[in-house]
Amino acid sequence: MKVLVTGGAGFIGSHIVDLLIDEGYQPVVVDNLSTGNLGFLHEKVPFYKENITSSNLEAIFAKERPDIVIHHAAQVDVSQSIQNPYDDAVSNIIGTIQLLDCCIKFKVKKFIYASSCAVYGDAGDLSINEGYPIQPISFYGISKYTPELYIKRFQQLYGLTYTILRYANVYGPRQTPKGEGGVVSIFREQLKDNKQPIIFGDGQQTRDFVYVKDVARANILALKKGQNEIFNIGCNTKTNINDLFKLMNTMTKKQLLPKYKPQRKEDIRFSQLNNNKATQLLGWKPKYDLTSGLEDTIFD
Ligand SMILES: NC(=O)c1ccc[n+]([C@@H]2O[C@H](COP(=O)([O-])OP(=O)(O)OC[C@H]3O[C@@H](n4cnc5c(N)ncnc54)[C@H](O)[C@@H]3O)[C@@H](O)[C@H]2O)c1
Repeated sequence: MKVLVTGGAGFIGSHIVDLLIDEGYQPVVVDNLSTGNLGFLHEKVPFYKENITSSNLEAIFAKERPDIVIHHAAQVDVSQSIQNPYDDAVSNIIGTIQLLDCCIKFKVKKFIYASSCAVYGDAGDLSINEGYPIQPISFYGISKYTPELYIKRFQQLYGLTYTILRYANVYGPRQTPKGEGGVVSIFREQLKDNKQPIIFGDGQQTRDFVYVKDVARANILALKKGQNEIFNIGCNTKTNINDLFKLMNTMTKKQLLPKYKPQRKEDIRFSQLNNNKATQLLGWKPKYDLTSGLEDTIFD
């Protein structure tokens, strides 16, 4: 079965491609390499350096005829979305619409979309499920949510089956110290270089950290299950940034002290995703807790 992975040269996408190969699928990758890295990609995977907003996309679909599309290409930097909401929207909204059009034209059987906990905005210090009100506070949150509406409507109008995965904060090997979930990779770099890490705000803000290999497995399960459903993909745990830093300091045997800077307006305060629905309908549960995931990440 042929699976086209957009953003497949990126952090999460490249782990999905690796798992697709292990499981006997045929991945094909479209990525403009704006943040991706060809070095992450298995050498035998057909690769198209292309923007998902390009008019060349249709020719790629015509040539490759994918059975399933896993869509991960996106502008992923929350601060960047505040500085340049237009480019963020073009990549994340218009790019997704163009992909959906191609899916209909070339009779793709399923569309799997990487959404984000950013769609919920500030939910309070609660574990939230998929029915929680959508209140994004960044343009990134808006541009990740709007495609969900298009995907649902494409399903209703044209029968394109979908699964939407709303990720918590993903971390793991190959993550660059940028983007929305990058705090682990930022601390990792700073600890490695003995540079004083910066924490925005008081460090009491919480995140639900989920390991990238668990996220890749959720995508593989979604190839066959979870039809026309939305799932939170997180560990249903909360870790505050001060505790994360202390843990990484200890694991790397460093004794660095963080420097505190003012909180950023676009940052949510709390995040914790209830994953019961993914467990029940996808058969997905995270296999890595934070310590085991960090061991793989720090010592990679
Ligand atoms: N990392 C997280 O914590 C997290 C959390 C929630 C959701 N997500 C979503 O997961 C997906 C992957 O994120 P990631 O963390 O791996 O980031 P990433 O930057 O490593 O991956 C994105 C990939 O998409 C490519 N890309 C970007 N814009 C493109 C375009 N217009 N056309 C073609 N390729 C393009 C980049 O070159 C990169 O390889 C994104 O959709 C992101 O919104 C990530």
